[in-house]
Amino acid sequence: MHNLPPRRLAVAPMLDWTDKHYRHMARQITRHSWLYSEMINAGAIIHGDKTRFLMFNEGENPLALQLGGSEPADLAKAAKAAEDYGYNEVNLNCGCPSPRVQKGAFGACLMNDAALVADCLNAMQDAVQIPVTVKHRIGVDRQTEYSTVADFVGTLRKQTACRTYIVHARNAWLDGLSPKENREVPPLKYEYVYRLKQEFPDLEIIINGGITTNEEIAAHLKHVDGVMVGREAYHNPMVMRDWDALFYGSSHAPITEADLVARLYDYALSQVNAGRGTTVRHIARHYLGLMHGLKNARSWRRMLSDAALLKPNRPELILEAWAQVAAANGFE
Ligand SMILES: Cc1cc2nc3c(=O)[nH]c(=O)nc-3n(C[C@H](O)[C@H](O)[C@H](O)COP(=O)(O)O)c2cc1C
Repeated sequence: MHNLPPRRLAVAPMLDWTDKHYRHMARQITRHSWLYSEMINAGAIIHGDKTRFLMFNEGENPLALQLGGSEPADLAKAAKAAEDYGYNEVNLNCGCPSPRVQKGAFGACLMNDAALVADCLNAMQDAVQIPVTVKHRIGVDRQTEYSTVADFVGTLRKQTACRTYIVHARNAWLDGLSPKENREVPPLKYEYVYRLKQEFPDLEIIINGGITTNEEIAAHLKHVDGVMVGREAYHNPMVMRDWDALFYGSSHAPITEADLVARLYDYALSQVNAGRGTTVRHIARHYLGLMHGLKNARSWRRMLSDAALLKPNRPELILEAWAQVAAANGFE
């Protein structure tokens, strides 16, 4: 893909959430923002069913694949596969705190071994032409000084060609907190991320963590190159509706709920009819937050998550749920 937009806005990688069905929906709402896959283990890609892990819908680009792993040779092979499948970037996860990931010694614990991360990034970048990037925290456990993240980034800047750093602006506490608590409890320190941009102005610095409104995004963009939004983009996808106009200078009118629903119905219909086992439930579970703030948003959610209604696997359920919202809000 030529002329990729800058990574000014991005939707975060989220395991079990940012699969290709979610990303298809997100792409209807924002054309220019970057989308990130769920984290996929390098080993799973090498040894498993590549198509299952890597296939995506036409139109999802600009799209990054996020890899988990700490074996340079495996990561290099997985990165190459990502490039072959048409991803525009490969990102290495250095921020995931889950115990499962810690056992494999990757994710956030990689922040304690910048030399190994450099080996991984170099092996990946040697294997592909697309950019290799990294997503990390500002520290692990009790490392609360700014110097922790500055040393990590400084080392990688010296030892690798990586120029894009996505920083979740809180620590990972590897002992005693669940992954969910690790997204809420350690305090956010946006000023550390701003300082990284000041200290390393040649790097592309993208801030992440707890950012929910367009006003907040605009304020962060005064200090850093890009903003990555996770949970808000999932629970309230329409927050993305104005991103193209506000942050990419697009003059296209933002999509209406009615147009979006029509496209989502067409998509569900084609996916279900393709006969590869995709169900309306697989797809519609990502749509539950779409009507956030509108009257009858609750019946939309209820209908699209009702096991009995989903069982016959009829894409029309999406239109029927929309009819409830449209009627209550006076939409055509
Ligand atoms: C359900 C869920 C799954 C996540 N999975 C990943 C992942 O696979 N890789 C990753 O780097 N971060 C993952 N994260 C963290 C997000 O990418 C992001 O850093 C975090 O949620 C903070 O951003 P937010 O406050 O905008 O949500 C996940 C977050 C959630 C809520």
